[in-house]
Amino acid sequence: MPSPLRRFVAGLDEQRSGGVPDMDEVGRLLVDLAADEEFFAPLIDQLPSAAPGDRWLVRPDRGPRLVLVHRPDGVMGYTHSHDCWVGIAPVRGVETHQRWNAVCYDDGRAELRLAEERALIRGDVATLVPPRDVHNHGHVAGSGPSPYSLILLGDDMLLFHRKEYDPEHGTWQALAPGDPGRANR
Ligand SMILES: [Fe+2]
Repeated sequence: MPSPLRRFVAGLDEQRSGGVPDMDEVGRLLVDLAADEEFFAPLIDQLPSAAPGDRWLVRPDRGPRLVLVHRPDGVMGYTHSHDCWVGIAPVRGVETHQRWNAVCYDDGRAELRLAEERALIRGDVATLVPPRDVHNHGHVAGSGPSPYSLILLGDDMLLFHRKEYDPEHGTWQALAPGDPGRANR
């Protein structure tokens, strides 16, 4: 593993030794890593700017995992839950992050209220802990350059029963384990 990632994982392991991690500390570790322009520049060069793309950086069977994600101009992800903790920190560009308060009904309707919206740039971080982990993120046209961001997940979210939401239509649907959901709006 490259040394910036090794240092990051060691710091994260230290944070997690007490059980539930301190998300402020996790966020600081993620911001420190995202600042390493020399490390990330060649990885970003490998992701074509015109298409959505990602590159896994740390991916054990279980536990925290890290992926570099790019979304092109104007492409926003679907709204979803994780059922594990999450951290997001841009390396380059502007990542718009929206967190939602969601109330779901059995008939598929959902009441979604925007709880927070931030235009994240390098040096910023957003962290989420279930059950307040309903979010979407990506690029909003006119906000600045499209983002290349680190996404840190506390575990393999595909092991869990999750939900996908449509704030525009006020609906939700279940995502069974293994279902990544729809990629981008
Ligand atoms: Fe997410």
